[in-house]
Amino acid sequence: MQYVPFGKTGRQVSRLGFGMMRLPTLKKGDSQVIDREEAIRMLRFAIDAGVNYVDTAYVYHGGESEILTGIALKDGYRGRVMLTTKLPQWLVEKESDMDRLLDEQLKKLDVSYLDFYLLHALDGSSFDKLKRLNYQKFLEKAKADGRIRHAGFSFHGEKDAFVDIIDGYDWDMAQIQFNYLDDTAQATLEGLLYAQRRGVPVVVMEPLRGGALANPPEDIRDTIDANPRGWSPVEWAFRYVGDFRNVPTILSGMSSMEQVQDNLRIFEDVKADDLTEHDKVFLAALKRSYLSRIKVGCTACNYCQPCPQEVQIPRIFEACNEAFMLNQPSSLKWNYGGIIKDNADGSRCVACGACEAACPQGLPIIQLLREIDAQAR
Ligand SMILES: NC(=O)c1ccc[n+]([C@@H]2O[C@H](COP(=O)([O-])OP(=O)(O)OC[C@H]3O[C@@H](n4cnc5c(N)ncnc54)[C@H](OP(=O)(O)O)[C@@H]3O)[C@@H](O)[C@H]2O)c1
Repeated sequence: MQYVPFGKTGRQVSRLGFGMMRLPTLKKGDSQVIDREEAIRMLRFAIDAGVNYVDTAYVYHGGESEILTGIALKDGYRGRVMLTTKLPQWLVEKESDMDRLLDEQLKKLDVSYLDFYLLHALDGSSFDKLKRLNYQKFLEKAKADGRIRHAGFSFHGEKDAFVDIIDGYDWDMAQIQFNYLDDTAQATLEGLLYAQRRGVPVVVMEPLRGGALANPPEDIRDTIDANPRGWSPVEWAFRYVGDFRNVPTILSGMSSMEQVQDNLRIFEDVKADDLTEHDKVFLAALKRSYLSRIKVGCTACNYCQPCPQEVQIPRIFEACNEAFMLNQPSSLKWNYGGIIKDNADGSRCVACGACEAACPQGLPIIQLLREIDAQAR
């Protein structure tokens, strides 16, 4: 295992961190029924092999992840790791909710303190809410009374909001979604480098895009197999993220012991500034191959919004592109199901044409909506 210094903690952190969001389950489709025995065996195996950073949250596995994590960290394992959980900020309505939720989480985890407490899944508007509710006072108090040692936030918004949040407080870390497809999405590579300039270490989540990069479409897999490095798709994805100096630890949500073992093997050798120019060119070509599979040239400029029928056109195109890019037709049905539930699907279109008149890309939106609607149901 490789280790690096972790910001202001004064501690060395393992470059592989354990994300407690994708644990093995006993009942297909029910994430709440964790296979406790196997999950505990996996986490302890990883810690015994050198992993010393564990990431959970209030909502993972329908609330069960924190409980399982607490149990797995008994028998002396708690003291061997840095433990992180997150404030479910969407449940915070008044100032006292933050204290109440933190106390509830410490109880569920059955620990006296957290190494890191993150404000979960921030974006611009949730950060505004927490500012109004005095989040700084809450974090300072929790640090002073010893319930948390360090404070940070995880992020799923746009880059400008990320920069605002970084500048808003003396953070000990930030956590972003980042992988070789997402360097221009959410916080973006630019955001990551901004955090570096401000001295805020960035923990990475979704390095395999939730697993999608582990199972590439056949042509991309063939390209990877032909590279003389001999690295697997998973290893390429981890090495891309691991190359950044400001990323102390990379979270993987491992769902089997085989994945734990594979990732431990890979992280024996994942070092910053280690990729060659050839490797970087190869990764950029992989990204281009993924992007070339995109079906609709929508740039999400939102000029077509609001639609008089409330069809969420960019969201529908994004769901379609994601499914084609990753060769995951089931993801289109899943995401489109959410769009239907929100009464924003393509079947509401009455072909008024307002969107086509506004679209700077000149997309045949009405026809595309019809095709996607037929395919996604
Ligand atoms: N704060 C937030 O808002 C937020 C959001 C997302 C994640 N997170 C945290 O970040 C962690 C990491 O994100 P993530 O779980 O999405 O990570 P990820 O590494 O992008 O995806 C994990 C998935 O990748 C696959 N995988 C992992 N190792 C593999 C291997 N060696 N070979 C083949 N497949 C492999 C597994 O998919 P299969 O199970 O399909 O095999 C696994 O479930 C989470 O667990 C969670 O702790 C936080």
